[in-house]
Amino acid sequence: MNTTHTTHTELSTEDVVRTFVEYYEERGHHRITGSTLLPPPGDPVLFTTSGMHPLTPYLEGRPHPLGRRLVNVQRCLRTTDLDEVGDSTHLTVFEMLGTWSLGDYEGQQSLTWGYDLLTGGFGIDPRLLHATVFGGDDQVGPDTASLELWQDRGVPVELTVEDNWWSNGPTGPCGPDSEIFLWTGDTPPESTPTGDDRWVEIWNHVMMRHRRLADGTLVPLPQRNIDTGLGLERLASLLQGRTSVFECDIFDPWRRLVPGLWPLDEPTLRLVCDHLRSAMVVIGDGVRPANTGRGYVLRRLVRRVLTVLWRDDSSRQLVDLPSELTRHTLEHFRQDVDMDAEVVRRVLVEEERRFRQLLERGRQVLARPRFQGPLGEEDLHYLHDTHGLPRDLVLTLRQG
Ligand code: SER
Repeated sequence: MNTTHTTHTELSTEDVVRTFVEYYEERGHHRITGSTLLPPPGDPVLFTTSGMHPLTPYLEGRPHPLGRRLVNVQRCLRTTDLDEVGDSTHLTVFEMLGTWSLGDYEGQQSLTWGYDLLTGGFGIDPRLLHATVFGGDDQVGPDTASLELWQDRGVPVELTVEDNWWSNGPTGPCGPDSEIFLWTGDTPPESTPTGDDRWVEIWNHVMMRHRRLADGTLVPLPQRNIDTGLGLERLASLLQGRTSVFECDIFDPWRRLVPGLWPLDEPTLRLVCDHLRSAMVVIGDGVRPANTGRGYVLRRLVRRVLTVLWRDDSSRQLVDLPSELTRHTLEHFRQDVDMDAEVVRRVLVEEERRFRQLLERGRQVLARPRFQGPLGEEDLHYLHDTHGLPRDLVLTLRQG
């Protein structure tokens, strides 16, 4: 990644948060406290996946007690990106810096402030920015206001359709968006965001003015909102000139402590740090391993870690994880360190014990003559229903 796009001395992640929040407070925004990873009742997803989730009722018209301009830091969990974890820009649990205009200012104002903060506040070279804008479809026209704003600023723009429409799920508040990308290549910028993945998306400004109904039609929301979201770790690592989110300061203790405990190659190290850190936050927010819903996501995170750790050495155990990592993570997410650190340790150790038992049972059952040939659907159902062996576990054991 290019290390020369800022003129500032290195900003820590905490500095990035402070600069961002103060900038918006100076422009009349009130800071609201971020919520946990558990979305409010009635939300269609298992975890909060973006800063706007907890604000849905206010985007739909309910007056917010702190007014029409808000700013916050919200932790989010995205399982849609799970397969991308380990690349340079995706984490399972990450934090989103967000701003909202609840029926107050419009998109051009939001983009202007965004551009000024990135270039002035964070010192990003404006020549390294690219924008994308909604080009229109058969229901909603092109976002000409955003297009004109970027053209006035001399920022190159690409028009897209699906990539510039943001929604929270199949139904609910949604709208066209304008995304800001930062060039991370070692050469001068080239191509466009959809044409070259060295353009990394850093900030999304959504013109949240529609609601999609179950039959697919769009109706206007009672007010015209703006909802913006900026991935904290991604921006921090870019400002710190690091080549991946795993190298920003948040991961310093992980990079210092994990390799001494378990020698792992870089992709495995990233996966282990990402999933363990995510599991800790999820447990801190009150989730426990289970076979369905949120608990299943947690279970998958922990079991994936164990599976890769045991590939080389099955004596590795989570109980050896330095407590500094748990404390650092819980503290970062403003969870109750004293109470939760012990709970996190217990939950991880117990899940490991169950998984070892399950693997052991799986190996024994699969050694029976009946399962020596190729396994059909019926076998997989039987192994699941009678022996509690999930399909993915059976397939892993067969490969191993
Ligand atoms: N809701 C939008 C997003 O998640 C902007 O905050 O990208």
